[in-house]
Amino acid sequence: MKVTVGVCGGIAAYKAAELVRALEKHALDVHVVMTEAAQHFVQPLTFAALTGHKVITGLWNGSEQPGADAASAIEHMDAAQTTDALVVAPATANTLAKFAHGIADDFLSALYLATTAPVIVAPAMNVNMWEHAATRANIETLAARNVHIVSPEAGYLACGMTGAGRLAETDAIVDAVLGVLGRRNDLTGETVLVTAGGTREALDPVRFLGNRSSGKMGYAMAEAAQRRGARVILVTAPTALRAPANVEVVPVVTTEEMRHAVLGRLDQSTIVIKAAAVADYRPRVQADQKLRRSGPLTLELEPTQDILAEVVAQRRPGMLVIGFAAETHDALSHGRDKLLRKGADAIVLNDVSREGVGFDADRNAVTFLTRDRAMELPEMRKRELADHILDEILTLRRPRKVMDESDVPVSGA
Ligand code: PMT
Repeated sequence: MKVTVGVCGGIAAYKAAELVRALEKHALDVHVVMTEAAQHFVQPLTFAALTGHKVITGLWNGSEQPGADAASAIEHMDAAQTTDALVVAPATANTLAKFAHGIADDFLSALYLATTAPVIVAPAMNVNMWEHAATRANIETLAARNVHIVSPEAGYLACGMTGAGRLAETDAIVDAVLGVLGRRNDLTGETVLVTAGGTREALDPVRFLGNRSSGKMGYAMAEAAQRRGARVILVTAPTALRAPANVEVVPVVTTEEMRHAVLGRLDQSTIVIKAAAVADYRPRVQADQKLRRSGPLTLELEPTQDILAEVVAQRRPGMLVIGFAAETHDALSHGRDKLLRKGADAIVLNDVSREGVGFDADRNAVTFLTRDRAMELPEMRKRELADHILDEILTLRRPRKVMDESDVPVSGA
């Protein structure tokens, strides 16, 4: 299969070389198109050497030379018709704007308009450019036209600022390419309902009981499931995150709102993944007015409904129900207890007492716990981990024949 990689001008252009190699490892025939700006960062020769193909560097290359033929004049049409996927990485704000508005003034933008193959864009830019309303609108337009967006990551940027805008990891881009090529559409036909973030229970009009969940784990699950072909419903408590593209987002605040949102969508869902950190208690009484400071205050709390247990009780045949568990001590025994008590098919167990993982971190380390096994998934980025968790969930659809060496039985049975 032929994949065309479009490289735009940005500091991340050098990472396109790694992407080309990674795609070739999947036996894909990779061709490269560079914008004029990209050639200021990386030489076309790099990509020619990696791919063994001529790198296309402009609309008019060669056509002004004596002997230029009709083939060079319609090169973009040929590339458009013969490619099985177009992946643009890094995609700059400028190129995204051209795609969104149908401007075709260079080879890459002309190729984008001319191809009917699936298109993936992996943006990379300064955080303010990424957050700008113009870029947001362009991204929304492209997502609505079924362009697959591999969202940039947050972190330290080459411009010296910190925030979202760093090119996604190569693995995530490769995964998206494999997904659109039908090589990894293993969740097609599934509707995955994911909960994310921490619910909030009001004490008075300005204060609430909450927790440290950032929503990153749940959003990573939602994004990975969408990339792998699922229809995804993301029921999310308040977070500072931007929702992944092409996902149905249901915002909620309290546990009761999350409960209604989840139970009301169970009839559409085939897999439920409860990554949210849900309040176990709420104030028995919510003050109508802001509480005044006057000596010690005793709060009376009442338990919330256990949404996970209700989902299990109302599950339809064939539905998979996956809970998460955040534990600070005796993780395995508490996780195992939760698995049996709540009746889920699996519990994704995090030891949140560890530094750098769990709540409000980009990384996590979990144990995927079922009644007959405990699969350790070592520390990695949440986006990568989400795919491993989905792989484990899918094994529940296909009973495993062989135990891996890394599997540790949960019980002696
Ligand atoms: O959001 P991040 O910052 O990325 O952090 C990720 C995370 C640590 C929040 C996530 O990985 C995680 O562990 N989520 C579950 C946290 C939690 O509430 O665990 P729990 O052990 O209290 O609850 C067990 C399960 O029951 C969870 O699936 C929870 O969603 C569910 N539950 C809990 C209480 C309740 N009233 N209803 C529920 O459905």
